[in-house]
Amino acid sequence: MRLIIQDSYDRMSKWVANYIVNSINDFGPTPENPFVLGLPTGSSPVGTYRELVKLVKSGKVTFDNVITFNMDEYVGIEEGHLESYHSFMRKNLFEHIRMPLENINILNGNADDLEEECNRYEKKITALGGIHLFLGGIGPDGHIAFNEPGSSLYSRTRIKTLTYDTRIANSRFFEDDVDQVPKLALTVGVATVTDAKEVILIVNGHGKARALHKIIEEGVNHMWTASALQLHPKSMIVCDVDATAELRMETVRYFRDIEKDNLDPGKIL
Ligand code: GLP
Repeated sequence: MRLIIQDSYDRMSKWVANYIVNSINDFGPTPENPFVLGLPTGSSPVGTYRELVKLVKSGKVTFDNVITFNMDEYVGIEEGHLESYHSFMRKNLFEHIRMPLENINILNGNADDLEEECNRYEKKITALGGIHLFLGGIGPDGHIAFNEPGSSLYSRTRIKTLTYDTRIANSRFFEDDVDQVPKLALTVGVATVTDAKEVILIVNGHGKARALHKIIEEGVNHMWTASALQLHPKSMIVCDVDATAELRMETVRYFRDIEKDNLDPGKIL
């Protein structure tokens, strides 16, 4: 696992956006061989999306041959609801870039048969040959997508009951009223994420410091589901300095040291 520490949220966001653009361009996607990208919601990736939009608009990359799969969606709120993940993605990324609508995949939390919807999603990912790069964030309890503490690390796309902690954390998007936060969500599983050829997590802010310590410095544990990344052959966490507050100095020094000669993807663009 690589740990990339950036000085600020903005630098972290630029780093990740540039890395994604380089990955797409190095791959050279075509209609027959598209680049498959997994995407998260939440406040963490907002800056990355803002930078991606700039890079698309300045002609550094095109999403014409990129197929996206979002991680999760609430159950039972309308797609057009301001806080649905469909709306989030439209507002933060899709309405700003040119991309074939049929290349955008987001779970349907209003499907008649939710289980069938989850199976359909997994099958579609498999039929495309898997996800090339899965971008994610983490919750303050170290969850990835909506894989709450205690989720199986072998889990696949399914219906999940949200923990009270997650609903409180997300109530900031629902007028600070936890009762308005849906109790259920559809989410890709931990294994759906770790099956991707490459996984990148964006972790920022002091509020994520404990989770970052748990997922990097402690063992693989289903109570901190993002720790599953430790078993992945090509995973990377890109964080800001604030998020490193609970890491051992030795850990920070080690990762800074091994990364110092690596090329910053921002310098390539
Ligand atoms: C939700 C999402 C996760 C996201 C997490 C953290 O639980 N399902 O995918 O990583 O929130 O959100 P934020 O980035 O706003 O802290």
